[in-house]
Amino acid sequence: MFPKDKKLILLTAYDFLTAQILEEAEVDAILVGDSLGMVFEGKPNTHEVTMEQMCYHIQAVKRGAPSTFVIGDMPINSYNNPKNALSNAKKIIQSGADLVKLEGGKEIETQIKHLIQNQIPLIGHIGLKPQSSKSFKVFGKSKAEAQQLIADANFLNKAGAKALILECIPAQLSQKITQSVNIPTIGIGAGKDCNGQILVFQDLVGLNHPNFNPRFLKKYLDSRNLFLESIKSFKKDIENGKFPNAKYSY
Ligand code: KIV
Repeated sequence: MFPKDKKLILLTAYDFLTAQILEEAEVDAILVGDSLGMVFEGKPNTHEVTMEQMCYHIQAVKRGAPSTFVIGDMPINSYNNPKNALSNAKKIIQSGADLVKLEGGKEIETQIKHLIQNQIPLIGHIGLKPQSSKSFKVFGKSKAEAQQLIADANFLNKAGAKALILECIPAQLSQKITQSVNIPTIGIGAGKDCNGQILVFQDLVGLNHPNFNPRFLKKYLDSRNLFLESIKSFKKDIENGKFPNAKYSY
């Protein structure tokens, strides 16, 4: 599904138009992430995102990117036991996702095995796990955390996950994990040696408030200011009596 010998490019989308752009840009996959809780809804974390929201946004994204792999995030509490995990994963797939993503390794072993036994293609997500982390910090600096991450990566690899997202872990550790698993690793704040990279689209294009500056983030565009400038021009036109589309009234 995802080759290990190619630099994979993944971005998030929550809506139709962004998905259309990402399909035109030929990204390898689009993640409808539960980061929508923060980016789309303005909540402080992902803890209140529901299945209904995920399914709604996945449908919009699939309409915009019918020919691109769409990964649907399983929100918090939607995979707290194997039965729930399977029925919710099926809803995510029915909404248009080609794969599901869930946070965790060995601590959700029964859910992961149950999903894979039932032919649900899945992507793992280890390191910083926003659904259970109290704060946004690097994970894997201590020996115990590093050993846990290696064990989780090996478990997911052996269980049959299609890829592995590594979030906010030390670069050397993600290099080691990347070399030790057969499936592609996709990093975010995890150094350059992962097989691919993923970013939140709004972060890449600089739509966030300027105070939002994670250390790993390179903003490729200052779209927030472009938007502000265009709104200022519109205001100026109207205030100066230059109604731009006056010819076309109905
Ligand atoms: O929810 C999300 O967007 C994610 C990515 C940041 C990896 O999990």
